[in-house]
Amino acid sequence: MEKVKGYIEANRERFINELFELLRIPSVSAKDENKGDMVRCAEHLKGVLLEAGADRAEVFATKGHPVLFAEKIVDESLPTVLVYGHYDVQPAEPLELWKSPPFEPEIRDGKIYARGADDDKGQFFMHVKAFELMVKEGILPCNIKFMIEGEEEIGSPNLESFCLENRDMIAADVILISDTPMIALETPTVTTGLRGMAYMEVELTGPNRDLHSGLYGGAVINPCNVLCDMISKLTDEDNRITIPGFYDDVIEVDSDERREMAKRPHDDNEYSSEIGVDYLGGEKGYSTIERLGIRPSLDVNGIWGGYTGEGAKTILPSKAFAKISMRLVPDQDFRKVEKQFDQYFRSLAPEGITVKTRVLHGGQAYVSPLDSPEYEAAAMALEETFGMKPIPVRSGGSIPIVSVFEKALDTKSILIGFGLDSNAIHSPNEHFPLFSLFKGIETIPLYFKYYSQLKGGQE
Ligand code: BES
Ligand code: MN
Ligand code: MN
Repeated sequence: MEKVKGYIEANRERFINELFELLRIPSVSAKDENKGDMVRCAEHLKGVLLEAGADRAEVFATKGHPVLFAEKIVDESLPTVLVYGHYDVQPAEPLELWKSPPFEPEIRDGKIYARGADDDKGQFFMHVKAFELMVKEGILPCNIKFMIEGEEEIGSPNLESFCLENRDMIAADVILISDTPMIALETPTVTTGLRGMAYMEVELTGPNRDLHSGLYGGAVINPCNVLCDMISKLTDEDNRITIPGFYDDVIEVDSDERREMAKRPHDDNEYSSEIGVDYLGGEKGYSTIERLGIRPSLDVNGIWGGYTGEGAKTILPSKAFAKISMRLVPDQDFRKVEKQFDQYFRSLAPEGITVKTRVLHGGQAYVSPLDSPEYEAAAMALEETFGMKPIPVRSGGSIPIVSVFEKALDTKSILIGFGLDSNAIHSPNEHFPLFSLFKGIETIPLYFKYYSQLKGGQE
């Protein structure tokens, strides 16, 4: 693997510059004003993949943002690895909290600061450069495909149909993804589970207009007060979710596996101090690792209504809103949870308040087996570059398309991420350490090598 290290050393600066170019494109999938940037980003990636050595690279339009597909087929009889990633990023707001502008990447203290530096541009870019390296050094041992989408951060609403319509084109033996964190900078991690998601928006309406709270307050039901009361009833004093039937399909993890999970290095004090809180909280009877990995959760992501501008205004608002998401675990079904939520939430409303709910997006949870060539190849590759075996982790985050890959395409995903919880993904000052970037580029070719070996391909 000296070839790998030599190539990385010789091209270090260029790799950084190329990643910066990608990070300068404000590909925010949630915003209409960035629609053009999304197309520009996908087109830019097409050039990048062709340059790296793809035989074919194409931008596919969808009902939403385009998908980039590229491939290099070495030999039809060899295994095929599909690399999945996403070029869309979360909105950068609040902008005033960024030390350097989100779309003007900058290196400080050995880390690249920019929106998407980790999630997921920095991470999938490692695969593009590892691919380039394997092609240029003549060590690509199998076929490779890339599918880089532009709608992950908004729930991948068009990717499932894209996959079904292009089944043959994207067919692969395994899907390789870097879009998850590691336990620590030098502790290699394979993510073996992702939570699912049911995401709802609720709207409560009371009087037909905002009212003077002196003329009406105390005599008319206030939708903002009611919303707070209804939300408080969604969880009980043990922090369990009270929606009837919610836990029916939750697979209880047995004590052996829980004991195994507890061996993973984790420090509640470190975890809480990094985010500036003195106490943690969650479902009674479970540890932090379990609350994140094997238990569902419910969070209000935003709540608004009435007057939220400067100073005081004395009104009784007409409307109140909230965005409420639920992270799900196997075998919960997001469609069933959406219905359960809708029914229960409506039942909590007093007379005189109208409730509307709508689904924002949803996805199923995923768990991957540990006794498979996919996992074994990742373990071998990571052990070689980090000097220790990776730790399997069931993560609290979601990548909704991964369960679609499994159910609709019958293809397993292997998640070897190089991020960190502290990289501030989705937050101001997102960053990605150069250490991680180059460690990833060094590790990925080994995954290809060992996977091909284990699958009986050439070296
Ligand atoms: N890269 C994350 C997923 C992730 C984060 C997995 C942390 C494991 C740990 C991804 O880009 C993401 O943010 N996903 C969304 C999905 C949602 C929009 C459906 C998430 O988890 O909130
Ligand atoms: Mn991501
Ligand atoms: Mn994300």
